Amino acid sequence: MSKIAVIGSNMVDLITYIDRMPAQGETLEAPGFALGCGGKGANQAVAAAKLGADVLMLTKVGDDMFADNTLANFQRLGIDTRYVQRVPGVSSGVAPIFVQADSHNSILIVKGANAHLAPADIDAAAPALRECALIVLQLEINVETVYHAIEFGREHNIPVLLNPAPALAGLSREHLAQLDFLVPNESELALISGQTVDSAESALAAAKTLVASGIRHVIVTLGPQGALYVGAEGEFRIPGLPVAARDTTGAGDAFIGCFIQHWSRERDIRAAMIQAVAYSACSVTGLGTQTSYPDARAFAEFQRNLDA
Ligand code: RIB
Repeated sequence: MSKIAVIGSNMVDLITYIDRMPAQGETLEAPGFALGCGGKGANQAVAAAKLGADVLMLTKVGDDMFADNTLANFQRLGIDTRYVQRVPGVSSGVAPIFVQADSHNSILIVKGANAHLAPADIDAAAPALRECALIVLQLEINVETVYHAIEFGREHNIPVLLNPAPALAGLSREHLAQLDFLVPNESELALISGQTVDSAESALAAAKTLVASGIRHVIVTLGPQGALYVGAEGEFRIPGLPVAARDTTGAGDAFIGCFIQHWSRERDIRAAMIQAVAYSACSVTGLGTQTSYPDARAFAEFQRNLDA
């Protein structure tokens, strides 16, 4: 049994490539635009599916032209959409994204239909969820739904991974302590731990605090610096890979998608992190969010070129 359940968001990414952000009242020409499938939940599901994972997606789409495209995208990749529902009279989630020439991004999200994914939807999908080896969550849906999914995982002995993005203050300690995996970036780690995170040492100290509070495995994504592990298997860092970044949008989701695909098959955290760091590095060399995620064959070629 290695099916992965992703319970989370889907968005339509409206990506504008810019030279700089316009000032208030200013109109500025931008060099490029792309429309793509996004949303942290969908991105993680798609990355895992592109690498060959069997994925069940729980999400909600809106009552608009974006919904058909999102569903078709999942289905084309073999993702199980049995429990994806349309919400009448509500827009799909959308994310206006601005990518600067240096590859960094700024993102706005409008949750739309994602805000309608409720605890009852998890109960309705229970027969399929019970067949899964891992439940994967983010924070672009209501936090009550996230908490219910964590409780469901505990009750049914299914490991749960939370990517606490976008950062949200005041997460329930009781629910965090039930997690098998917490995968924050540095700013999310700082918010959750209440500690300053501005160096490798401070990230390690903050991650240790979370492990002491009950989380089994904390994996901190460090962007170009790779990723840090603290937890039941000790402490270690996987170094980043030197690549020429063009668009970093969705790189964290690429990391998680690859990690969950590998871990659910092999149950080897270090090996899964090594693959995930490489997959995330590969993703930033391409443009767009899901469009920059390689399938298994393209990823193998990227890794061969690194070795050459
Ligand atoms: O993590 C990147 C994602 O954040 C984008 O795809 C956008 O939709 C927002 O959810």
